[in-house]
Amino acid sequence: MATTKQLLSDLVSGVSSVPSNYIRPISDRPNIDEVSLGNPIPLIDLQGLDGSNRSDVVKEIGQACQEYGFFQVKNHGIPEEVIDKMLCLSRDFFHLPESERMKNYSDDPMKTTRLSTSFNVKTEKVSNWRDFLRIHCHPLEDYIHEWPTNPPSFREDVAEYSKNARGLALTLLEAISESLGLDRDYINKALGKHGQHMAINYYPPCPQPELTYGLPGHADPNLITILLQDNVPGLQVLKDGKWLAVPPISNTFIVNIGDQMQVISNDRYKSVLHRAIVNSNKERISIPTFYCPSPDAVTLPAPHLINDHHPPLYRNFAYSDYYKKFWNRGLATETCLDMFKITTSNP
Ligand code: OGA
Ligand code: NI
Repeated sequence: MATTKQLLSDLVSGVSSVPSNYIRPISDRPNIDEVSLGNPIPLIDLQGLDGSNRSDVVKEIGQACQEYGFFQVKNHGIPEEVIDKMLCLSRDFFHLPESERMKNYSDDPMKTTRLSTSFNVKTEKVSNWRDFLRIHCHPLEDYIHEWPTNPPSFREDVAEYSKNARGLALTLLEAISESLGLDRDYINKALGKHGQHMAINYYPPCPQPELTYGLPGHADPNLITILLQDNVPGLQVLKDGKWLAVPPISNTFIVNIGDQMQVISNDRYKSVLHRAIVNSNKERISIPTFYCPSPDAVTLPAPHLINDHHPPLYRNFAYSDYYKKFWNRGLATETCLDMFKITTSNP
């Protein structure tokens, strides 16, 4: 009897070519030869945020948000041990037997804990070379009972990691608020009860990486993303029309602006397209923490940033509406933000 494999890692272990539903049309392939290697995204030392250098670091962050929509951080305060455990555990999770991993499987994007594959198997035409586990992390006590229990230390280690990631997110949100000339707690207060999701992305080795994506170009729908990647390259960021590789640096995080921050900043900061490519010999793990408003929170351009020269560019909306639209339409290069823009034809 033929069995259908739902997860990519089980479907492709040992294959020597990419199955046809993963092959991108010729006009939409990674073109790895054209990737820019110069001028990496800024690496910002957060040590200075606590002392008399605060305003310099805030300025650096603001500049990176404006020019790249992306930056990396070091001296971020998250212990190396917490990071190592998170990466190790993630690898162990995806190496569990298929039957054990499948206990968490779901193709419903609205489920708060689920293991799935590609992006949205219900709506997409071409699949992506990725499996992922997605969980909600805040408030922790509302979700931890849904999390996997295998590997046995999963709940403990992931809780520790996600509390640390939340601390870093809150620190960055204060600095970003200040960089926009807003009160230090403006963004914190604009997020309702706050939300925090996490994905563990697992990209198996791919026999023909030039034909497919781990994740195609997309913008993140949330507020800011704090990405931990292992030591295998794959992340690329769009900068001045070219894809720029972001090589891993151990014990750093990559931070990017998401759509909600673009709205709050009224387009001063941009939610930039990024993608993940795969490679033929190594599995890759990346762990984004998606910091976001709670579903009921209303996102709007900060009134302080609006004046005669800068009219509001977006209408107010509940984050839950935005989030549903994001998952329903699939990853596309035109961002979901266009649906919430104020235009003359769409008042
Ligand atoms: C994402 C993402 C990049 C990566 O999960 O939204 O952009 O390097 N991941 O895996
Ligand atoms: Ni992303």
